[in-house]
Amino acid sequence: MRIYRANTYEDMSRKAANIISAQIIMKPDAVLGLATGSSPLGIYRQLIEWYKKGDLDFREVRTVNLDEYKGLAPEDRHSYAYFMKENLFDHVNIDPANTHIPNGLEKDEALECARYNEVIAGLGGIDLQLLGIGANGHIGFNEPGEAFEKETHCVRLTDTTIEANARFFETMDQVPKYAYSTGIKNIMQARSILLIASGKAKAEAVNQMLTGPISPACPASILQLHNNVSIVADKEALSIYDSL
Ligand code: F6R
Repeated sequence: MRIYRANTYEDMSRKAANIISAQIIMKPDAVLGLATGSSPLGIYRQLIEWYKKGDLDFREVRTVNLDEYKGLAPEDRHSYAYFMKENLFDHVNIDPANTHIPNGLEKDEALECARYNEVIAGLGGIDLQLLGIGANGHIGFNEPGEAFEKETHCVRLTDTTIEANARFFETMDQVPKYAYSTGIKNIMQARSILLIASGKAKAEAVNQMLTGPISPACPASILQLHNNVSIVADKEALSIYDSL
């Protein structure tokens, strides 16, 4: 694991955007695994800026998102499909046909999970997987549990995650309780991984990921076994090591 320390959220975002940009320059039709949430917003803003300057071209880029809430339509402004359009896809020259997100409206879980695994396989796997990390150590929506979930699955979100997501909804009742998520096997099969972490609330999860036992109790700890992981974290997310 390579750990890059950033001073601020903006610094973290720029450093991480540089890694993604290098991937697109080296392989214009790269398959990017993308994430939603607050952490990647600065990266997406930076990528859009470089695209507008003519420094980046998304024409051949393919993307697969980590997850989607079950029950939400792509047009629902709370959905991750909507988030991706709003925060990245609508602002760059990516072909919408090359962007993939689990179908939150598919009620048949087995069917949707199998379809999404096929999508990833059909793209030839993921070149660079971008990950945020939950305060409970989740990656994608692979929540702490008894076992590492393997491939795309439908997950019951934990109460901590539901509470963390509530900030995007008007009422607690609106916050979806289930989501489709790619699994640890999908993530671990990515040829490279870029995990970003910002803020004190992530410090303990980052510490468990880096130094804790490899255990489903902290899903991100599995990344210790991947041979090409870059972690870009700001000072606060690495604050546990300040006194060492
Ligand atoms: C999002 C995802 C989640 C988030 C994580 C951190 O697609 O899969 O694992 O990366 O919950 O979220 P933020 O960045 O909002 O703190």
